[in-house]
Amino acid sequence: MSAILHRKTDTVPPAVAQADGLWVTDSDGRRYLDAVSGGAAVSAIGHREERVRDAILRQFDAVSYAHGSFFTSEPAEELAAYLVGKAPAGLSKVVFCSGGSEAVETALKLARQYWVERGEPGRGKIIARRQSYHGATLGALSVGGNLPRRALYEPLLFEAELIAPCYAYRERREDETERDYGLRAAAELEDAILRLGPETVAAFIAEPVVGATLGCAPAVDGYLSEVRAICDRYGVLLILDEIMCGSGRTGYRFAFEEDGVVPDIVTVAKGLGGGFVPMGATLVHDRIADAIAAGSGALAHGFTYMGHSLACAAALAVQRAVDEDGLVAAAAASGTALRRMLEASLGQHRHVGDIRGRGLFIGIELVADRETKAPFDPAAKLHAVVKASAMENGLMIYPSGGTIDGRAGDHILLAPALNAREDELAEIVARLGRSLDNALETLK
Ligand SMILES: Cc1ncc(COP(=O)(O)O)c(C=O)c1O
Repeated sequence: MSAILHRKTDTVPPAVAQADGLWVTDSDGRRYLDAVSGGAAVSAIGHREERVRDAILRQFDAVSYAHGSFFTSEPAEELAAYLVGKAPAGLSKVVFCSGGSEAVETALKLARQYWVERGEPGRGKIIARRQSYHGATLGALSVGGNLPRRALYEPLLFEAELIAPCYAYRERREDETERDYGLRAAAELEDAILRLGPETVAAFIAEPVVGATLGCAPAVDGYLSEVRAICDRYGVLLILDEIMCGSGRTGYRFAFEEDGVVPDIVTVAKGLGGGFVPMGATLVHDRIADAIAAGSGALAHGFTYMGHSLACAAALAVQRAVDEDGLVAAAAASGTALRRMLEASLGQHRHVGDIRGRGLFIGIELVADRETKAPFDPAAKLHAVVKASAMENGLMIYPSGGTIDGRAGDHILLAPALNAREDELAEIVARLGRSLDNALETLK
């Protein structure tokens, strides 16, 4: 019995009781190896980190909360300066919030405010991509291309223009290089801007590496730089959503660094607070902050918990720990090691179509037939069977369905903590292989 309206009304999930490093224990004493940082690429440095505990307690003894219309606070100022210090030149201001969806809402509202401040109130349209996810609130959902998550709410959503994602495994033609494919995919953005009329378009939003919806499909070489060039050509703002792929997970502090671009706005969450606190942030370029300063002089947006002192103190400690322990470089090295192990163990598996991603953000697309790339029958819900089988094998992974078009296709997402050890990665791969085979066996 539970007073919580759980995600599934007929099941109460096991109660989590304790966690240490990559190991999570439930209240029945069962242990799970966490291959996905708390379930959704959140617990980036594991649990029970002393430096974070100390920072939280210090801040608790000082002050936990004061509303942003009255006060700023030292941890909020320090965390903002820290993030800006890690970001490329130009991304110089931060708006804090409590999670990913709020960070995306903030980004969309800032893009809109920017154009009004600039005297172009006609720019209100957002272009986004199919097979993407930007959050559960109605604004973020409106620009998301995850059809199952949108469907129920369609009447409540605003209209965004959805173009193709960058999904090389299925959409690159045989006769195309990755780069040519990337340019072709990016050209859809220009077509959409021209179709809508550049004077009506406020921003384009995309995940550099698409997380849960596409199973870690990365932007191919050249795609984002072409997107940046197209945005510049028509004055459209580029918002990159790094809520899942950012904060060091890809082996870069910001995933977009690998693509050699600088967005106008970037959203981060999840790994920012590392699961110790709910935390999100929207970093904005000077040109946006300057337009607001030169115009109304006021942010036309706010949340009660933006810049929460205790949360900022914790997130600052997480980010410092990431740097003190060299975890961005570790994510790159461990990502290479994990990819190698996965290729060795599953690369030839008859139902593994593609292993992809960046750093410690890896997707495995499952297929019924490797040659034709035919997916499994969606009715079989392979992704759900794999998740249940992994839990049976004491392994936390993040499988999803609808990879191809919101209906067909299955993938597994892996995103272990940035400080995962090589023996833990090997154990993840061993348990994953068992779980996948057990799941496929039950479908026979
Ligand atoms: C890319 C991306 N954007 C936004 C969100 C929404 O974040 P939250 O669930 O913290 O609101 C998510 C969550 O999975 C995400 O992966």
